Amino acid sequence: MLNVLKKSEHCVKLCAALEKSENYQKFIKYRDKVLALGNDSLEKTIAIAVSLCLVCAVLVSFGAVALKPLQAYNKALDMKQNILDVAGLLEDGKDIDAAFAEKIEAKIVNLETGEYVDGINAEEYDQRKAAKDPAQSVVIPKEKDIAHIRVKAKLAKVFLVKEGNAIKSIILPVNGYGLWSTLYGFLSIDPDGQTVQSINFYDQAETPGLGGEVVNPKWRALWKGKKIYAETDQPSFDKGTIEEADIGEPALALIKGVVDNDKPGSQYQVDGLAGATLTSTGVTNLVRYWTSKEGFARYLSKVRTVKGAKS
Ligand SMILES: Cc1cc2nc3c(=O)[nH]c(=O)nc-3n(C[C@H](O)[C@H](O)[C@H](O)COP(=O)(O)O)c2cc1C
Repeated sequence: MLNVLKKSEHCVKLCAALEKSENYQKFIKYRDKVLALGNDSLEKTIAIAVSLCLVCAVLVSFGAVALKPLQAYNKALDMKQNILDVAGLLEDGKDIDAAFAEKIEAKIVNLETGEYVDGINAEEYDQRKAAKDPAQSVVIPKEKDIAHIRVKAKLAKVFLVKEGNAIKSIILPVNGYGLWSTLYGFLSIDPDGQTVQSINFYDQAETPGLGGEVVNPKWRALWKGKKIYAETDQPSFDKGTIEEADIGEPALALIKGVVDNDKPGSQYQVDGLAGATLTSTGVTNLVRYWTSKEGFARYLSKVRTVKGAKS
């Protein structure tokens, strides 16, 4: 309270000093002169227009600066909400910050080695920003860039859903080009590093009703239980270590039409989006890219060898 009073006292002094200043007096004189002019005078019209622009510019600048922290907070909150959603932990009315802090841990992974990286604040690390920084990213060779993203950050941010000490889900950030836009989303996987729990896209600009159906909960539900890697690709899996040669290529793909669950191989297939083959191909490619050795394959192979992740 005392501080507020002191501040207002300070303001009063500042205003008094301003009123006494020569420039302020000149401004007041000019203002009175302009206001005394007729309404159809050119000088008055220009002066009023310029003043209005100045006032608006000050208001907009003030708004932009004052609202920046709130915008940053809302962006972070939205991201947490998406992560909770893909983890199946989003509950109506529950505090998002609290639920996130209680259940989810962010970790940094070196994509080349598949190992966790210590010494970086995972909460603050922004993978999308890092991908745009040449020092923190790598250019993807054209022949390997099936997701059409051109660059990727060397370090990725994964999210682990925990219950006590046990890991319940591994959430991977994914992105890739569809038809009109780069789709950004999360892929949630069982601790076996192989079985899909869910997928969601939080940033995309495909056509609503066509490619935009990637956000449709009914379509998203089709992903549950699907397998990423063909089982035959991992002969060393049961030995407890996956050898480099056995990490394998992802087999999961969107197909044209509806998956026949009675057919062999259906565990690697998801229904394509009707009338949106190009977005569907983009989704296949981005999932395959991020689960390949270019993406998280090495990390997931380590998780899979321990048959349940440990943080
Ligand atoms: C206005 C308009 C918007 C479209 N938006 C998409 C889209 O978001 N994703 C997509 O894959 N195809 C979209 N298409 C359709 C593609 O051009 C293409 O025809 C389609 O992907 C082929 O899919 P289909 O073989 O399943 O019919 C759009 C077409 C039109 C005319």
